[in-house]
Amino acid sequence: MNIEEIAKQMVAKGKGILAADESTGTMEKRLKSVNVESNEKNRLHFRETLFTSPAMATCISGVILFDETIRQVSSSGISIPELIKKNGSIPGIKVDKGAKSLAGSNNEKITEGLDGLRSRMEEYYKLGARFAKWRAVYSIGSGSPSEQCIKANAHALARYAALVQEAKMVPIVEPEVLMDGEHSIDECYDVTSRVITECYKELYLQNVNLKGTVLKPNMILPGASCKNKSTTDEIAKKTLECLKKNMPKEVPGVAFLSGGQSEIEATKNLNAINKINDTSFNFTFSYGRALQQSALKTWSKSMKNTSDIQKVFDHRATMNGASTEAKWNEKLEQSFAA
Ligand code: G3H
Repeated sequence: MNIEEIAKQMVAKGKGILAADESTGTMEKRLKSVNVESNEKNRLHFRETLFTSPAMATCISGVILFDETIRQVSSSGISIPELIKKNGSIPGIKVDKGAKSLAGSNNEKITEGLDGLRSRMEEYYKLGARFAKWRAVYSIGSGSPSEQCIKANAHALARYAALVQEAKMVPIVEPEVLMDGEHSIDECYDVTSRVITECYKELYLQNVNLKGTVLKPNMILPGASCKNKSTTDEIAKKTLECLKKNMPKEVPGVAFLSGGQSEIEATKNLNAINKINDTSFNFTFSYGRALQQSALKTWSKSMKNTSDIQKVFDHRATMNGASTEAKWNEKLEQSFAA
């Protein structure tokens, strides 16, 4: 498959991406929150339980892995990327080295990881990855994000994307405007517009083939501490409008991050966006927390109870799969409890 075909498959209707690429540090936080020790064996066990779930074949188009996981071998003896492929999904890899302090800024972040990326991509290709992910983060505050932060991150995202395509893989371009803060939904709209516009300027400059990319943005939401809450319809309308205005037509689709929304909110909002989608873009999910949270809790209570853990994960994946086709509703959500 060439990169344009892979990108289309990643955002195909009915399916979405499982972001299981938490770094060791983030995984430690997640496991600590459910009172489980974070060690290599436990991290692999949880992830393998999800990767062997029935929903992998029906609702998950791709899985983003962390460097540790792409090198691990499953209990059935095959490598983790092989296991993912066997279940009908595409293995991917997070290649950024995290958001670090941006020199000369007021505590803003720049994502690092370009040095040595060409040779790392060659190795990841051999290990089975066919797409990659790089996340840039932007906070909304007084004077933030600055032009300096927006431009520096867009440049890094574009250089990353060009290197990934050179290695015959699809870059997921992830500029995340964080939900933390008191900002309004309109401020989120404005900042996200500026960020996305700058990213595409740089992607053009670096000669990235947009048909072989996937955008992973935040939805347009009020800040988590904003007093004025927004309705699902408003979120969907503003998110669609923002992406329609700022995304080039060549991009096959969008795979949203969940960014701290609850599992249900993330599903509901995606469904509402797809209900009013009048564009050529496919809108799907690339969720971490919003796909794994309940499964993680169930796993922490009884790690050996594979069938219960997988049932919980399958339900979330199925609900989000339905949302990509605007087929989700409360009744369907409740069908799990029934
Ligand atoms: O980079 C962020 C993850 O891939 C998505 O995680 O859905 O929990 O925000 P999230």
